[in-house]
Amino acid sequence: MTCHVLIGGFFGDEGKGKIVSYLAIKDKASIVVRAGVGTNAGHTVEYKGKTYKLRQIPSGFVQENAKILIGPGVLVNPDVLRKEAEETGVGKRLKIDRQCAIIEEKHIEEDRSSSFLKGKIGSTGTGCGPCNAERAMRKVKLAKDIPELAEYITDVPLEVNTAIDEGKHVLIEGTQGTFLSLYHGTYPFVTSKDTTASQACADVGVGPTKVDEVFIVFKSFTTRVGGGELPGELTEEEAKRRGWFETATVTGRKRRAAPFNFELAKRAVMINGATQAAITKFDILFPECKGARSIDKLPEEGLSFIKRVEETIKIPVSLIGTGPGALDIIDLRSEKED
Ligand code: IMP
Ligand code: MG
Repeated sequence: MTCHVLIGGFFGDEGKGKIVSYLAIKDKASIVVRAGVGTNAGHTVEYKGKTYKLRQIPSGFVQENAKILIGPGVLVNPDVLRKEAEETGVGKRLKIDRQCAIIEEKHIEEDRSSSFLKGKIGSTGTGCGPCNAERAMRKVKLAKDIPELAEYITDVPLEVNTAIDEGKHVLIEGTQGTFLSLYHGTYPFVTSKDTTASQACADVGVGPTKVDEVFIVFKSFTTRVGGGELPGELTEEEAKRRGWFETATVTGRKRRAAPFNFELAKRAVMINGATQAAITKFDILFPECKGARSIDKLPEEGLSFIKRVEETIKIPVSLIGTGPGALDIIDLRSEKED
């Protein structure tokens, strides 16, 4: 049995979509199952010349024969689900759990009209917070209550655990980042649920004894959208000068930027029980390694950066992203195996 979990190590937007799509293909996942909050997440996948911006369905859809599932812990917006199903052409491979809670228009309105959520916290305005609140009050609608979703419904925990028991490979795709967790993040500037590896497992109905590896994804620099502290935050001008200026996938807002945070990385590894790390956008720090697929293409300075990260977080950096394409990656796992 092999079950891998992938999680964000900072404030979301670490580049999880790219790493998930790579791992799904490379490890020939039988199932890629989405954990996390809901449509507040934005994962970008570039594959075969196309760019996909996904908020609902797993980025691992690019592994062509894999089942694409959404766990019961995840909030589903039926409009977004159908739109992305069409865009990606996943067809019957896409299924959601009968107990996924449904985001309705009223949740979106409440999120967008709240001066606290939208104004102070800087929520994505996708209705996730109000929907999770209603779920906690035991009044929310579930996927099984919506006739139009009937074609998508399955028992996700049963499918996932059966696959693991049959020795198939399952990839659990987390969303957001460790420090947006309702429990472990910079409260109140956080999302409406825990976002760590244990929660990702609970979201899809997999117990901790079934997990073999926890991949934690860090970006080469940190960014965050919305309110809350960001140690070492740069001015927009300086972020632009360094090439670190980004805008958000879901809301189009400016992302605030700061250097890689070694202390937060160390804490995130601890909280998630991470076993391997991925570092994305290495080509932004070191443009000479753009598109590289082997470690000897890294400059000396890049190698010492990786070494410093590994000495701090005490787990190996096994994947280094060198460009936006799903396959632009230095995979040190395969170098070790070969
Ligand atoms: P909410 O989850 O939409 O309520 O937003 C709460 C906070 O989490 C805001 O600061 C958002 O910008 C942030 N947030 C939620 N989801 C993501 C994500 O996927 N990436 C980055 N930030 C996020
Ligand atoms: Mg994102």
